[in-house]
Amino acid sequence: MIPCGGTLPRTSTQRRRFVHWAALCFPAIQENRITTIQCLSGTGSLRVGGEFLAKHYHQHIIYIPKPTWGNHPKVFTSAGLSVEYYRYYDPASRGLDFQGLLEDLGAAPSGAIVLLHACAHNPTGVDPTTEQWEHIRQLIRSKQLLPFFDSAYQGFASGSLDADAHPVRMFVADGGECLIAQSYAKNLGLYGERVGALSIVCKSADVASKVESQVKLVVRPMYSNPPIHGASIVATILKNSEMYNEWTIELKGMADRIISMRHQLYDALQARGTPGDWSHIIKQIGMFTFTGLNTEQVAFMTKEYHIYMTSDGRISMAGLSSKTVPHLADAIHAAVTRAA
Ligand SMILES: Cc1ncc(COP(=O)(O)O)c(C=O)c1O
Repeated sequence: MIPCGGTLPRTSTQRRRFVHWAALCFPAIQENRITTIQCLSGTGSLRVGGEFLAKHYHQHIIYIPKPTWGNHPKVFTSAGLSVEYYRYYDPASRGLDFQGLLEDLGAAPSGAIVLLHACAHNPTGVDPTTEQWEHIRQLIRSKQLLPFFDSAYQGFASGSLDADAHPVRMFVADGGECLIAQSYAKNLGLYGERVGALSIVCKSADVASKVESQVKLVVRPMYSNPPIHGASIVATILKNSEMYNEWTIELKGMADRIISMRHQLYDALQARGTPGDWSHIIKQIGMFTFTGLNTEQVAFMTKEYHIYMTSDGRISMAGLSSKTVPHLADAIHAAVTRAA
């Protein structure tokens, strides 16, 4: 299973971590309960998983968070599933609407599929805490819902592949079923190569092998085979301990740079005395900040400052640098004070 992929540990810290995740993940791998199939990046993995469920799973309703990545509803509707939403983001606190999430999933019909962002939720940058994940896991299992993880940013949230995989591993460790769509577009910089994988964790090896043959039948008439080049880059890196270590260091560098951009933008707004509480900029996680700016403010910033972002106020922190932060802060300040 790809989220557990890696290499043999060398240092004592690595060994401790290895023992921890191996204890959690190995049973499913050792028991051959996981079917993994290479797909066309994260999107293709979601689509193949969706088509497989539409064909073979008894429940066709998939709950996705509100808001979510704009392509999710289209991917799942095109796959033949019926999309419903669960509450996720609370605009007032600019944080997680945990109560709303529990209520909506609690009211979902038994067996419904639930899409969960594994980490670095897009577009809000708001992730549940470990305790909240545990609540979500218990609710999902008690209602016999089917978790479908979208892991598009592993390593980008905390800078650690292990920490970001933790929610997925909590579900794998409990022995229940789940699906994981994994993208290597961002964390390995392979966007153009379209490298990803769909893993389906089953309750037994027998089911996993049947699932594998059925997933192949979904892929065959769709695109027959995935391209080989990008996947061999990933395989080379995952199998070579030096390259793997280099990758994790670079990934941490990326994540730390994004965190530093968050602090620089927050400090710049504080320095300008921009009205409002901007602490969500440093609290949110991953590539995106859901600024809380409204459509008019976004349009103003585009027109007057040539700053381009999605109309819901989402900005990509990865696209910022120390040089561009002051210009963005000026634009936000002008947009907010102008509208006030
Ligand atoms: C939440 C989420 N899932 C999936 C994807 C798709 O990733 P990929 O480019 O690997 O298809 C994205 C990309 O933006 C995303 O934000």
